[in-house]
Amino acid sequence: MNDGYALKVERLTVRYGDKVAVKGLSFMVNNGEVYCLLGPNGAGKTSTIKAILGLVKYEGLIDILGLGQPSPSVMNNIGVVMETPVVLEALTPREFLEFLGSVRGIFNARRAEALIDAFELREYLDTPIAALSAGNRQKVAIVAALLHEPRLLLLDEPFNFLDVKSVRVFKEIMQRHIESGGSILFSTHIMEVAERVCNRIGILNEGDLITEGTLSEIKERAKAGTLEDAFLKAIHADEEIKAILEGL
Ligand SMILES: Nc1ncnc2c1ncn2[C@@H]1O[C@H](COP(=O)(O)OP(=O)(O)OP(=O)(O)O)[C@@H](O)[C@H]1O
Ligand SMILES: [Mg+2]
Repeated sequence: MNDGYALKVERLTVRYGDKVAVKGLSFMVNNGEVYCLLGPNGAGKTSTIKAILGLVKYEGLIDILGLGQPSPSVMNNIGVVMETPVVLEALTPREFLEFLGSVRGIFNARRAEALIDAFELREYLDTPIAALSAGNRQKVAIVAALLHEPRLLLLDEPFNFLDVKSVRVFKEIMQRHIESGGSILFSTHIMEVAERVCNRIGILNEGDLITEGTLSEIKERAKAGTLEDAFLKAIHADEEIKAILEGL
C-alpha cells in the first residue's frame, strides 16, 4: 500500500520486433484520480495497458499499487476493460461471472446482483455470450471488471458499443470509484467524455508522451478552447486537417 500513487510507469518501452510502439514512457496515476491516456490510432495506448498487465514484454519499471510489477497476485486489485473484451463466448454471463469469482477467490453476490441490474443484463444471464449484442457483451466485460471492487481500473475504450443510458451509468460508477479513493487509467477517443471525467491527461503520439497536465493546463498550453482543439494541435493534426479539407 502507498499513499501517493496507484500506478507508476517509468521509462516503459514496448517493442514488437523492430517496431517500437512505446518509447520510454513515464507517468503516474495518483490515488483518487482519473488519468486519461489520449492519442491517435496506433499511438501506443493499448500496448501501454498490456504492459501494465504483463501481457506483452516490456522494458522499464511498472509499480501497481505499491505491490510491484504485474503478477497474478496484484491482479485481484485491478479491474480491466480491454478494447477487445476478453469474455469466454461459450459461457453465459452467469457462468462467466461465477468463473471469474472462483478464479479470483472473491465473489460478492450482492454486488454482482447490483451490477447486473445496473447494466440491465438480467434477462441475458443464461444466454451464451456469443449470442449477445455487441453492447451487451461490453456490459458483461464491464461488470466482470467491477465485480471484485478493484482499487485500480484500467479502461481501454470502455464505452465502445454502449447505449446512452449505460454510458451515463458507467460514468457515475467511475465517479463513485474515484470518490471512494480508487483510481482509473482511462483511454478514450471521445474528447467530450475525457473533458468531463479526467483529472489529468497524457497525450501519446507515436509512442511518446508529448504533453501532460490537467485539462486547463493542456488547453492553455495549446491556446485552445476545447480539449479536441488542444489535442489536434498537440499532435499537429490541425494543419493536416485544413490541407485535407482544402483538397476535397
Ligand atoms: N501484436 C502486435 N504486433 C505488431 N505490432 C503491433 C502489435 N500490437 C500493436 N502493434 C503496433 O504497435 C503500435 C501501437 O499500437 P496500440 O494498439 O498500442 O495503439 P493504440 O494507441 O491503442 O491505438 P488505437 O487507438 O487504434 O487503439 C501500432 O503501430 C501497432 O500497429
Ligand atoms: Mg488501442
